[in-house]
Amino acid sequence: MFRLSDLTNKDKSPQPPTPPPPPVPPASRQIVETPPAPPAAPPAGPSQKTGELERAYGHLYEALVSCVKALFEQARADKPLDLAEAWRLVKQLPTVKTDECQALLGLLERHSRDNYLYTHAVNVAILASHLGHCLGHSEESVYDVALAGLLLDIGMAGDPEHLASLQRKLTAEEWKAIATHPAKALEHLKTARDLPQDVLDAISTHHQRPDDHGHHPGGGGGGDMADFGKILAVCDVYDALTHPRSYRNRFSHAQAIKVLVDGANTRFDRRVIKALVDALSLYPRGSVVRLSTNEIAKVEMVRPEAPLRPVVLISRDANQVPLSSPRRLDLLEQPFVYVKEVVTDEDL
Ligand SMILES: [Fe+2]
Repeated sequence: MFRLSDLTNKDKSPQPPTPPPPPVPPASRQIVETPPAPPAAPPAGPSQKTGELERAYGHLYEALVSCVKALFEQARADKPLDLAEAWRLVKQLPTVKTDECQALLGLLERHSRDNYLYTHAVNVAILASHLGHCLGHSEESVYDVALAGLLLDIGMAGDPEHLASLQRKLTAEEWKAIATHPAKALEHLKTARDLPQDVLDAISTHHQRPDDHGHHPGGGGGGDMADFGKILAVCDVYDALTHPRSYRNRFSHAQAIKVLVDGANTRFDRRVIKALVDALSLYPRGSVVRLSTNEIAKVEMVRPEAPLRPVVLISRDANQVPLSSPRRLDLLEQPFVYVKEVVTDEDL
């Protein structure tokens, strides 16, 4: 039986290394521009540094959203997709420095109902590149999975604009139309120059499921599901659940993880879920929590090495009265205060 503790506890036995994806000939990357230097990290305290990194990566986030939007417009106009800007931007996603990754992952809270398809793709790209790195893939492969994230729903470009953004559950007929988007994506990408095969495989299999309930264009089970398709599948579902729709509130991080864990091995890859839990921690940045003091606080900074002791901003006192300005508390320096529970939108 599969349990959440299987994911949150460190493995006692060594895991086999993740097999690398097929090598891509160097010539296939000749169109990639040399990326500019990433934003310089300012020398400052944790809070200030996080804030400045978040502002810097906020610009990158907006550039990624504009890029996805432009690609959708090219697909709608049936033009060949120009991926040069997408390649340039995914090469700026940090994959090593912890605080830079945390600042970038903090941006996943962003969403726009008007731009849902585009922000969702950007969020999936950010998460997928981070998980690709955590799972031991090479830097070049991490760029590939990030690009696949940006393009995962490009097959919806030809659908009526409203279909994917409908603020209600889809009818069976609408769902059937949407389910063809991985196959349609391959059609749009047929004319894209020198696209690595692992990008195409990831996009075409991101709705495939091991128990065969997905929407893989060729049908069939998930036994041969692409490695990057497994990463996209988890990131796709996690991001969709943790953002609100008009017909439901957003799921909390814990609720979304539970959905994934319930489907581990049958619908989602267990190793990818474990990497997601490790990357985002039990209380990801932006989570609203109740402390042992009964105060309400928002998680401001996560420490991968001490996931239960984040830095928080207290917004309500023990009597639930809002504070005029948030009070910062580092739980690593307050051993007698701890996170009691995650608070959902409905609890407030
Ligand atoms: Fe999709």
